Amino acid sequence: MLIAGNWKMNTDVSSCVELARGVVRESKNAGMVRVTVCPPNVFLSSVGAVLDGTRVSLGAQNMHALGRGAYTGEVSGEMLRSLGCHHVILGHSERRQYFRETDAEINRKAKKALKLGLVPIVCVGENLDQRRAGKEFEVVAFQVKYALEDLALLSSNALIIAYEPVWAIGTGETATPAQAQHMHALIRTLVRQQFGSKIGNDLHILYGGSMKPANARDLLSERDVDGGLIGGASLQSDVFGQIIQAAREVEEGRRAAGAD
Ligand code: 13P
Repeated sequence: MLIAGNWKMNTDVSSCVELARGVVRESKNAGMVRVTVCPPNVFLSSVGAVLDGTRVSLGAQNMHALGRGAYTGEVSGEMLRSLGCHHVILGHSERRQYFRETDAEINRKAKKALKLGLVPIVCVGENLDQRRAGKEFEVVAFQVKYALEDLALLSSNALIIAYEPVWAIGTGETATPAQAQHMHALIRTLVRQQFGSKIGNDLHILYGGSMKPANARDLLSERDVDGGLIGGASLQSDVFGQIIQAAREVEEGRRAAGAD
């Protein structure tokens, strides 16, 4: 189980460091749950210093597909790597929507991240019109196919997929556990078809979209939900901590059931 916080374009340098310290405290009792936080790029270094030697790992929210050059304002995977990042979110719906990122571009970034040993968290998800039109499975299948096309994936740990229905992001509206499970099962089937059953079975598929303490346990209890990508509720460490605890309880329940 993985619980990841996407801090988006929030915090300043001091509140960011304070939040990171809080997440470290909240993660002391995380059990087997892995925790990662993705601060704004300008604070990666400061947050990295707080996380150093702790069990919380560092992630970024985006990267350029190329290593260096005249791309004013951009940040490369090499730079993220040099700051100690383990994860990088790619193709978040806000990047797709506001910055016109395409699946082809996300695919180039994912390939580069894999080469560098950065674990991409590739985001997919339909918007409200697409769901209303009954096209959610078609849309997500398309995104998975083209964002992951020709990836050289050797292990299930090298990639994470996050299902984030756009209509549930920052709206307070959440997919029901059944809706999330349905989509996660489809994504897992597609990953199995592309990368084989071992990788497909073990790959982490996160749910994102208004996950909070009140709904985390139900969502995380679904069979194909392996964690959460959390926006708003990751900006307060105690609230984020409650989600980590919900994940821990679900994970321990699964292990106990598996041992029976
Ligand atoms: P919220 O949790 O604020 O809905 O955001 C989800 C998200 O976009 C995480 O990447």
